[in-house]
Amino acid sequence: MRPRPITDRVQWLGAIDWDRRLFDSLIPLPQGTSYNAYVVQGSEKTVLFDTVDPTMTEVLVRQLDQEPPIDLVVAHHVEQDHSGSIPAVLERYPAAKLICSPKAKGMLIDHLALAEDRVVTVEDGETVSLGNRTLRFIHTPWVHWPETMGTFLEEDRILFSCDFFGSHLATSDLYGEWARVHRPAKRYYAEIMMPFRKTIVRNLEKVRALAPAMICPSHGPVYRDPEPVIAAYEDWAGGEPKNVVVVPYISMHGSTKLMVDHFVAALIDRGVGVEQFELSTVDLGELAMALVDAATVVLGTPTVILGPHPHVVQATYLASALKPKFRWASVIGSYGWGSKAVEHIGEALSGLKPEILEPVMCKGLPRAADFEALERLADQIAERHQGLVSA
Ligand code: FEO
Repeated sequence: MRPRPITDRVQWLGAIDWDRRLFDSLIPLPQGTSYNAYVVQGSEKTVLFDTVDPTMTEVLVRQLDQEPPIDLVVAHHVEQDHSGSIPAVLERYPAAKLICSPKAKGMLIDHLALAEDRVVTVEDGETVSLGNRTLRFIHTPWVHWPETMGTFLEEDRILFSCDFFGSHLATSDLYGEWARVHRPAKRYYAEIMMPFRKTIVRNLEKVRALAPAMICPSHGPVYRDPEPVIAAYEDWAGGEPKNVVVVPYISMHGSTKLMVDHFVAALIDRGVGVEQFELSTVDLGELAMALVDAATVVLGTPTVILGPHPHVVQATYLASALKPKFRWASVIGSYGWGSKAVEHIGEALSGLKPEILEPVMCKGLPRAADFEALERLADQIAERHQGLVSA
């Protein structure tokens, strides 16, 4: 693939990874991904923003054959899907300097065994001239590592944001229409950015102040109109939770399933939105996306050796680690002879400080009293959700 022009001075380079299905050996990529790099050619200097995953270095190198010599390389982020081809690029351009945030310098040297004298650090707001183009470096810590930053190309008002606003979406489209990118961008936010949503809110203020005309992220398509993705991030990271209950569950002999079915129907009857996930077949990215908006999480679990089912342990850990904004939580489920599942789940969620609503655990098959308790739990949730808008 050849470099693709964005303006007369800016080009997309990079690799589309159509076939990748897992990131970090953890995150499902149902639509693949891309590793975007960009070249900006000023009247005096040429800069390369980021590189590509080391598995695709050759793709980038072939594209660089068609570009003028690179004077500067900017590393916005140390994670290897963007930095992994930097050693090959620096070897190809022995006079080029690598620009990064002060925090990134040691990390780049640690991760890529770079020579220290190749690396130059820039402060937040510092500028570098390419001649007729100016780069302004914008520190955006914790999107999603501590060293992350973006670059604002002042004359063109283009923000190169790296992971920030990215989407795992392999596509031949250089530009993404929001209707298509919305869900991949939300999945990306949920999986990668949500744990840092408080710092993301502060970084969004910086982006708003820049009023970019275009955003070029390092995964997925370029945003010709950045407003929808900025507004969506403001809602995902800083908005009120929605009138949604997420119900991750699993059942071993059918009792927990009977309870989940009754409970979900009771919520729907009361006008509460529900997202239900069977945990032996779940796509964890879909579950993470549902957690972005949920006001309440109710885990459905049978009991395994006194504790929750291991798949529920995993879902609870995920909910705790991603730090979503739900306010209320509960547990429903069953046991054969005894259970500490509620206590285990409550402990696992304690860092998020949700209000724990009265759990409903039944011995063996659920009976009339258990179904009545589920109705009361649905009542409590509907009452607490009053005033919340739909997702
Ligand atoms: Fe796309 Fe955090 O790397």
